[in-house]
Amino acid sequence: MPSTSTGKKTAHSLFNRSLVSIYDLSKQQILDVLTTASKMERLKPEAKAKILAHKTVASLFFEPSTRTRLSFEAAIQNLGANVIGFSDENVTSLKKGESFSDTIKMVCNYAHAIVMRHPITGHARIAAGEASVPVINAGDGTNEHPTQNLLDLYTIKKRFGRLNGLKIGFLGDLKFSRTIKGLVHALNKLGDNEYYFIAPHQLRMEEGITQTLKGEGCKILEGEHLENFIGLLDILYVTRIQRERFDSHAEYERLRGSYQIDKGTLARAKKTLALMHPLPRIDEISRDVDELPQATYFQQAHHGLPVREAILSLILGGKHGKN
Ligand code: CP
Repeated sequence: MPSTSTGKKTAHSLFNRSLVSIYDLSKQQILDVLTTASKMERLKPEAKAKILAHKTVASLFFEPSTRTRLSFEAAIQNLGANVIGFSDENVTSLKKGESFSDTIKMVCNYAHAIVMRHPITGHARIAAGEASVPVINAGDGTNEHPTQNLLDLYTIKKRFGRLNGLKIGFLGDLKFSRTIKGLVHALNKLGDNEYYFIAPHQLRMEEGITQTLKGEGCKILEGEHLENFIGLLDILYVTRIQRERFDSHAEYERLRGSYQIDKGTLARAKKTLALMHPLPRIDEISRDVDELPQATYFQQAHHGLPVREAILSLILGGKHGKN
């Protein structure tokens, strides 16, 4: 569907571009999203509802989601646009044998942009290649989740007032996590921080990725034991051991309880620590931690809304109101 927006495509703007990878964004583009998200939090609902009036956005979820799908769909509606789509590919003509490529081409007839989650690495890039409208990657396999990266950055900026000079620990499943490598890459673009990769040996970040990040100038220390690091961290970013990424159920069962954060763990942390998690959690953060001031994960999920409103309005060319 052709865009009728008055937005302009300049070297720095996100207008009419796909968002497939956080690696594709410049520092200025990331900062634009964060600034626009902050404006979204201050805009009155009636002003927000005019931003994308008469637009349609397709929400195509080939893999389960709670936060990403619902916050995107709420953001689309808050901006005054219509949402179409599906959250289960079994209700589509893919079941009759239609190709992924034709499916994406068809959706472009009905929508000004596509938000898509897919279980297979690389399918967001493939969709962007097929589509005549911008594609926003809402997670592709174990590869990337750029809008999660942006809401994580927004959360850190709001919490600390800066994206620089922080000691940040990443805990759990670093091998299959699609959020961590992109977040470290983006943080390193924006500031000078220290990163601690803490994981069981079997779930360590791939050596090649760690080396690439180090090559970009990231200061990374690796270890298996949280107690060696917890006292010095400003942020502890916990990830779920993801059952759906394991070939062997026995291996998953062996590793799933590797780390459990409870009040005792946080007694050894800074009072100002931000405990983050992209969610969903299973049992890696105990429920009794939720009431502590360090618990940041529900705020983090809440920030999905203004950040996704910002992304949609920048890509579809809406006006964001006064500063
Ligand atoms: N954080 C995140 O992507 O959550 P969902 O899988 O529920 O969308």
